[in-house]
Amino acid sequence: MAKADLGSIAVVVLAAGKGTRLKVATPKPLLALHGQRIIDFPLHAVQAWAAVTKVKMDITVVLGHQKAAVQTYLQSRYPDLHYVIQTEQRGTGDAVKSYLAQTPAAADYAWTLIMCADTPLIRPQVLAQLAQAAAEHGEAQAATFTLADPTGYGRIVRQGAGIKEGSFKIVEEKDASPTQKQIKEVNAGLYLVPTAVLIQRLAKIDDQNKAHEFYLTDIFTGTAGQAILIEDGATLLAGVNDMAQLSLAGKQLRMAKIKTLQAQGVEIIDPDNTYIEETVQVAAGAIIHPGVHLEGRTTIGANTIIEAGSILKNMEVEEQVVIKAYCYLEDSKICATAQVGPFAHLRPQSVVGPQAKVGNFVELKKATLLEGAKVSHLSYVGDAEIGRRTNIGCGFITCNYDGAHKHFTKIGDDCFIGSDSQMIAPVEIGDQCFVASGSTINKSMPPNSFAISRG
Ligand code: UD1
Ligand code: CA
Repeated sequence: MAKADLGSIAVVVLAAGKGTRLKVATPKPLLALHGQRIIDFPLHAVQAWAAVTKVKMDITVVLGHQKAAVQTYLQSRYPDLHYVIQTEQRGTGDAVKSYLAQTPAAADYAWTLIMCADTPLIRPQVLAQLAQAAAEHGEAQAATFTLADPTGYGRIVRQGAGIKEGSFKIVEEKDASPTQKQIKEVNAGLYLVPTAVLIQRLAKIDDQNKAHEFYLTDIFTGTAGQAILIEDGATLLAGVNDMAQLSLAGKQLRMAKIKTLQAQGVEIIDPDNTYIEETVQVAAGAIIHPGVHLEGRTTIGANTIIEAGSILKNMEVEEQVVIKAYCYLEDSKICATAQVGPFAHLRPQSVVGPQAKVGNFVELKKATLLEGAKVSHLSYVGDAEIGRRTNIGCGFITCNYDGAHKHFTKIGDDCFIGSDSQMIAPVEIGDQCFVASGSTINKSMPPNSFAISRG
């Protein structure tokens, strides 16, 4: 496809709406989706497209409902965005009017690309397709797609009174006649319009419709402009207006990620019940069982097995690790050939060394298990280091907190720490020490020493 040469493009992202149909207090642009927020997706798509084209593009977000929350979120992640405010939510046409009124330079951009914040499945190639059509025909473009059940979307009406051959109008669901409601081609809410045309047409729209809103769609009057049918539009351009559509969008994004991983040699036993965020990396040969969640900056090494129901957030897991069922693991590292779980809890800044073992009902917090160390049953290890090959018995506790401060426990290599023992930190246990079962240790032990304390 030849590169579309459109000169400069102003991008306007509509994000002011109330999101009434969602029935939640969180503003729609900020709803969680596939590890991000809804509005991140159209922004990433347009940024990715801007990066490959040489066209000058500036992005303005139209804020309104809960504007402070949305702006705060965006400012922390996208330093180059511009913002305008739509004071009253009087429709998509009014939102674009607010943009024009508050952006003195708006008319300087040859084209204006209008996107909705609530179409998260959009990809850069859709924008490229729209730009190509705009470059070829020089006219206003609206993206469309077909749906077996078009309920809720504006319909693309290509025939009827006042509609020129090859042109179209958009009729909203609320205003559509029974015959128009049968039309399966719908408006995607994505438009690329010569800015001069936009300004001229918007000045003429009114709110004489069932919703008493200013519809942006009324800029297409049936005499000019093109409706361009996007292949796969039903998945790429689906809107999110309610919770059912939000979960469908999430599912699409998850399945796409799973397909990518499968193509790379990752075995996913039940894709419908596996939740892997976009940012996660998994190496070939890994096996992911049902109900697993992999989130954030998590990386999984080759041939690692993650059993059912385990949740991993920002975890670094090396190769040939076995994570047994129902573990909750975050912000920690598991080295090659280690074993964790079932029912283990790794809290931040823990490291499970090579061939080390963390067993059932064990919690680690800021704890390092060196190579081959074992904590197999019912233990709390916090602010601690456990030496190489050291074996910790059942029911061990590091008493790391005195009510005001956290203290460190260091246990050397090749120690045997009996069951039901506690370390009152700070303590340092040398290499090859033996602590008898049921002991409470509150003093450091030199290497090769023995301790017993039973009340
Ligand atoms: C809109 C289109 C419809 C199309 C559908 C595609 C209109 C009139 N209708 O309907 O033809 O099929 O998108 O998904 O445009 N917004 C504002 N200010 C407002 C109202 C809305 O900024 O006053 C923003 C919303 O935050 C949202 C976007 O515009 O991001 C679309 O608004 P929404 O109410 O979801 O429109 P739809 O009913 O989906
Ligand atoms: Ca919508």
